[in-house]
Amino acid sequence: MTERASEIVKFDNVGVRYGADQEVLSDLSFTLYPGSFYFLTGASGAGKTTLLKLLYLAQRPSRGGIRMFGRDMITLPRADLPDFRRRLGVVFQDFRLIEHISAFDNVALPLRLAGVEEPRVLKAVHDMLDWVNLADRAQALPATLSGGEQQRVAIARAVIARPQLLLADEPTGNVDPEMALKLLRLFEALNARVGTTVVVATHDVQLIQQMPDPLIMRLHKGRLADPTRALRYPPARTRSPQPGRDPFSAEGAGGNGGQA
Ligand SMILES: Nc1ncnc2c1ncn2[C@@H]1O[C@H](COP(=O)(O)OP(=O)(O)OP(=O)(O)O)[C@@H](O)[C@H]1O
Ligand SMILES: [Mg+2]
Repeated sequence: MTERASEIVKFDNVGVRYGADQEVLSDLSFTLYPGSFYFLTGASGAGKTTLLKLLYLAQRPSRGGIRMFGRDMITLPRADLPDFRRRLGVVFQDFRLIEHISAFDNVALPLRLAGVEEPRVLKAVHDMLDWVNLADRAQALPATLSGGEQQRVAIARAVIARPQLLLADEPTGNVDPEMALKLLRLFEALNARVGTTVVVATHDVQLIQQMPDPLIMRLHKGRLADPTRALRYPPARTRSPQPGRDPFSAEGAGGNGGQA
């Protein structure tokens, strides 16, 4: 099997129930291919956040098998979880910023944890905050930021260390359409330049339409439909980066960030 065809995520008949209630996710079997960009859609309550929680290892399935990065996640020792979490970038639906440190320090955290030296951290964070139009709010505490500003900090923090897998839960729910498009371009740049596999949960149809040939995973009442057959076959091509400068282009800041 070629490198492109191997999976980064493989679900086999996965189900999730909370407590003794009915399953909220049922019979999920799918593969996510490395370097691909997926939209996860579905009505409110369909199970998008629950599916992302399985992917960011915050929720265990009630049944079925999950493999990620070539390892069986069901039998993975708890002690190995932090190592896997470091490969992930997560934009939480409720942001989850650290409240007592500035926007700047929130975004810097993944790079500092990865041991990137401070001059490179400063440049990378500065450039990333510039991209999300928050340069003038760098020293603000999260509680003093608007919802849309907090969301942009959460996105900057999730992408800055160039994760292998980016999971974003309604990442444009609080921003205007122009900023939503700019954030989509940021995810695309991470995908095209770094090779990050991206899953964006959204019900913003207009945003999805900005992408040619989007790969779509659609949840309906806890079951997965595959309207673009993206989950059954490896996508035929990788996307080319948009021309111009972005935080992941050679001219952009950050060096090789958390992969250092
Ligand atoms: N901790 C929980 N305990 C019990 N039920 C839950 C819990 N979390 C989610 N659910 C239920 O699971 C179902 C799926 O919820 P989930 O949050 O995954 O949906 P979603 O597609 O992300 O919705 P939204 O678009 O509103 O964010 C819903 O019926 C929800 O009420
Ligand atoms: Mg949700």
